[in-house]
Amino acid sequence: MSGRYRLTSVETVENEGTWLFTVRDERDEDVEVLLVPCEDDEGGAVEAWVNSCTHEAQPLYREGVGAAVREGAVVCPKHGSMFDTCSGYCDNGPAAETTLPSVEISVEDGQVYLTDGDVRFLRAGPSEDDDDDDGPSSTSHLRL
Ligand code: FES
Repeated sequence: MSGRYRLTSVETVENEGTWLFTVRDERDEDVEVLLVPCEDDEGGAVEAWVNSCTHEAQPLYREGVGAAVREGAVVCPKHGSMFDTCSGYCDNGPAAETTLPSVEISVEDGQVYLTDGDVRFLRAGPSEDDDDDDGPSSTSHLRL
């Protein structure tokens, strides 16, 4: 664990619906991560999930469009599977019975901090090394 990095505020995530940032993982690959509001019984505020559907590695958050969050779930724009914002679990559609990889964060005094010692904060917003949508470009996955 190498300390923590302030990402944004809970209020910003709630107001914008989602908040995207990019980290570099242990294999030196860029990984996009999505912050989403989570309202569970314990009053959780925000969770962080890797921005990649577990079905076909499609981004859940697209630049200029954002991510669709409906009824406490992130909706995959390609085939419509819905992932619980609090658990990352999907029980429907082609991605059923899978869970989005998570990145460790903490919330303190209304602020969201990256606390995952396996990744390093790169920037707010999307990865800059995305190729075109098609072709066998490298796909990044965190193995947690
Ligand atoms: S790519 Fe997300 S459900 Fe198929």
